[in-house]
Amino acid sequence: MSNTHTHNEHTCVVGLGWGDEGKGKVVDLLCPHYDFVVRFNGGANAGHTVYVGDEKFALHLLPSGVLHADKQAVVGSGVVVDPIALVDEIEMLSQRGIDIDGRLHISDRAHVVLAYHKTEDLLSESAAGDSGQIGTTSRGIGPCYADKMRRTSAIRMSDLRNWDLLSSRVRAVADMKRRTLSAMSGQNVAIDAEAILSELKPCVERIRPLIGDTMLRLHDASMDGKRFLFEGANGSLLDIDHGTYPYVTSSGTTANNVGNGSGVPARSIANVLGVTKSYATRVGHGPFVTELDNAAGQRIREVGHEYGTTTGRPRRCGWFDAVATTYSVRFGGVTEIALMHLDTLSGFETVGLCTGYRLDGQALRTPPSDCSTLERVEPVFEFVKGWSEDLRSVDSYERLPETARNYIQRIESLVGAPVTIISVGPERTQTIVRNTRVVSAREEAGT
Ligand code: GDP
Ligand code: IMO
Ligand code: MG
Repeated sequence: MSNTHTHNEHTCVVGLGWGDEGKGKVVDLLCPHYDFVVRFNGGANAGHTVYVGDEKFALHLLPSGVLHADKQAVVGSGVVVDPIALVDEIEMLSQRGIDIDGRLHISDRAHVVLAYHKTEDLLSESAAGDSGQIGTTSRGIGPCYADKMRRTSAIRMSDLRNWDLLSSRVRAVADMKRRTLSAMSGQNVAIDAEAILSELKPCVERIRPLIGDTMLRLHDASMDGKRFLFEGANGSLLDIDHGTYPYVTSSGTTANNVGNGSGVPARSIANVLGVTKSYATRVGHGPFVTELDNAAGQRIREVGHEYGTTTGRPRRCGWFDAVATTYSVRFGGVTEIALMHLDTLSGFETVGLCTGYRLDGQALRTPPSDCSTLERVEPVFEFVKGWSEDLRSVDSYERLPETARNYIQRIESLVGAPVTIISVGPERTQTIVRNTRVVSAREEAGT
């Protein structure tokens, strides 16, 4: 008997840009076609918005699938978990009538974010000065992943099982952090291990029953024919290896990281759905070739409500970047595209698309690896005719204005992947789905 299953048609949803592409909405929409929803990277830096009728949910650590009462939710080994943020989120859901007990499973191999990680996040940003700052979400993500790699100062979810051992470890690491952070910042950085522990204690009791071997659970479920939806956090251009380094996050943000981040072999993923807006946005610092520092950018920000879900920061806005998106599609093995926020572009006489990069008069095939060069790149824009119609109630591809369909086709041909989901508003119903494998495969297979 084979010990691996590859025919369950598992799907991974990833952002193709710098985050906030609309992954939460897409995951929520696809949930009915899957049994498990799995986070495999990032932490509470993510902010995934889902509308259920008039109700708005913002999820940070939990997979958006928790909103569906009949789905199993997994927080995989590649996620960095802040126990306090986790309990806050569980309680927020419980107050709104959503109970997670018995269907939320957290990997015992996931790493733990503690208060000193957030202190370190803030201190290293201020030490970097205005020009060197990354503009992080201050959720302690980078410092926690750094501890994971350093090993000697890391704490994992499995350590929460034994309070006495955990307490002595937190005291030892907190002392080491106090000394290194004080030396780094030249100030006396107070890190109070006892305060950390007393805040942690009730959270640990609450989440201890949820901690387990999620890799084995997923393996057994896969053998049982269950179908998984992997929910990527952040975005491909924030990927630690292939993003706009150093203005990136600290984890692998694409389907390439599903294997490590969940324990489910990456080759068992049949579909990679790349989510992108019909334009580009970025929060935080770093190069942004198509950025519009003008009235058009301001208009996209206001019409699209482009303010961060996690930090409330205004998002930087620009035209769709086909060069960067093609790069994300290429290295992330993307098989289909969900094109979001098409409604936001209504009313522009012409809509811009970046079809090429030029540097010192030369055309580039792909984004350069270093940010100082990327900052000097000039976009080659093509402008296509826009549309004035309000798209928010358009329910089929054929009913979209011809100019909007031309825009979609232009994106497909530039990026080299089919646009199978088109979103015309934040709600579930404001979505056009066509010819996709991510919702139909199981039904077609008759399982
Ligand atoms: P995520 O991090 O990728 O899940 O995206 P966020 O939730 O941070 O940001 C996306 C925002 O756009 C949310 O407020 C969504 O409700 C909203 N949204 C998603 N799709 C659409 C769309 O097609 N049109 C409009 N107008 N808003 C959308
Ligand atoms: P979702 O899942 C948008 C950005 C931060 C910053 C950089 C590093 O909602 O799409 P970090 O706190 O991770 O060390 O910050 O990455 N960033 C995001 N931007 N959406 C996200 O997540 C992000 N996660 C991280 O703004 O520029
Ligand atoms: Mg977000």
